[in-house]
Amino acid sequence: MNSPELLPILCYPDPRLHTVAQPVVAVDDRIRALIVRMLATMYDANGIGLAATQVDVHERLIVIDVSETRDQPMVLINPEIEWASDEKRKGEEGCLSVPGIYDGVERSVAVRVRALDGEGKSRVIEAEGMLAVCIQHEMDHLMGKVFVEYLSMLKRTRIKGKLAKARREAERA
Ligand code: NI
Repeated sequence: MNSPELLPILCYPDPRLHTVAQPVVAVDDRIRALIVRMLATMYDANGIGLAATQVDVHERLIVIDVSETRDQPMVLINPEIEWASDEKRKGEEGCLSVPGIYDGVERSVAVRVRALDGEGKSRVIEAEGMLAVCIQHEMDHLMGKVFVEYLSMLKRTRIKGKLAKARREAERA
């Protein structure tokens, strides 16, 4: 079997990352093909989550795998938060769209989310720990929000500078 074609990942501060995604209308062959390519792209980049927004598709679709073994893919289509714990915790986050940058973001420690799975079946996911953080992070992408936007203006300016420098160096190499 041929391996699926990887999708280019948009990099912060690409303005397309701020697009608000529309609901997926039908879980059809097009969406199933997109899921396969998004999962391959996420695994190739060693990420634990990828939102369609990050591959310039502005529909409410997320793929996640927080397992150590990298063989527990989750697909969330049209996810909605039904409940989020009042208890919050600050944890270190990174993002495939902000390569090499890690910083603390405060999130609910547990969430309950309703979403369609890859077969279009409605599911309720009770998540805590890393999965809860990952779901909130990816759902932010669908709203056009990147995690660095929780940080101070000063930090964001530094991050943009670092990413621009890394891009220049990559172009020269
Ligand atoms: Ni991200």
